[in-house]
Amino acid sequence: MVIKDLLVEGVDLLKQNSNINPLFEAQVILSKLLNVDKSFLIAHEDLEVKKTIEDEYFKIIKNRKEGYPLQYLLGEVEFYGYKFKVREGVLIPRPDTEILVSFIIEYINQKKLTNYRLLEIGVGSGAIILSIAKSCPKGSLVGVDISETALDVAKENKKNLGISNVELIKSDLFEAFHSSTNDTTENFDIIVSNPPYIDREEMLNLQREVKYEPQIALFGGDDGLFYYKAISDEARYHLKNGGILAFEIGLKQGEKVKEILLNFGYRDISILKDFEQRDRVVVAYKD
Ligand SMILES: C[S@@+](CC[C@H](N)C(=O)[O-])C[C@H]1O[C@@H](n2cnc3c(N)ncnc32)[C@H](O)[C@@H]1O
Repeated sequence: MVIKDLLVEGVDLLKQNSNINPLFEAQVILSKLLNVDKSFLIAHEDLEVKKTIEDEYFKIIKNRKEGYPLQYLLGEVEFYGYKFKVREGVLIPRPDTEILVSFIIEYINQKKLTNYRLLEIGVGSGAIILSIAKSCPKGSLVGVDISETALDVAKENKKNLGISNVELIKSDLFEAFHSSTNDTTENFDIIVSNPPYIDREEMLNLQREVKYEPQIALFGGDDGLFYYKAISDEARYHLKNGGILAFEIGLKQGEKVKEILLNFGYRDISILKDFEQRDRVVVAYKD
């Protein structure tokens, strides 16, 4: 088949899913498979495409029509201007999370922190910690995740981005720092997390696409607040005095997370909004 016919048939199939922009996605998928950009497709619409690529194209289009995430099909996503590998088993980083990253980068720059120490709980693909490390290289950063798949992907992204000051380790929350031989207690200037925060009820109504993402990255316990409580509680013992704890939050969780932080003795708690004026990030200071 030639490029034009592949696009026409691809659009026809993708149209059946109303969450998809059919032409845009058909072009993205075909350009990726042919390793060309969109303008090439337009300029060479009568070019014959190899049968193997045609088969792969329709396989991807059909999966996509069923709601399988485009980012998993392409194997990568752009976040904070960088390319991150993603695959099944790891959360696809969302543009909203860039707000948390921007805040931390601004904080480090404004305070002129050098040799800062940062801990991220739940690194996933590494989008947060690696973007911060790229913009603020004069620090020492540690990221943990309970998922081996997430850590493998994060390590791959770390290598691709040429980062050397980020350590990635497997840990159930702060477990890796419990050993008495470890000297990390009260050692971090910044602790950051975008933890799983979807409550039980919301989990039942998840969009088709989110269903393909790992439950361990999404489910935040019955009330969606389990991780905020656990991390706020324990972060107190790992933050330096004056250090900050910053969370991404679900849209309706601002006041609840603020209350959790107040109860654990944090001060100067603020809620940051996204571009649509919705609560997105909560920041708190340890005395
Ligand atoms: C919402 S995802 C965030 C991923 C990534 N930081 C991002 O923003 O794209 C939450 C991450 O927390 C990890 N996680 C879940 N439970 C954990 C635990 N008990 N200890 C450490 N990490 C955990 C998940 O595997 C997942 O990668």
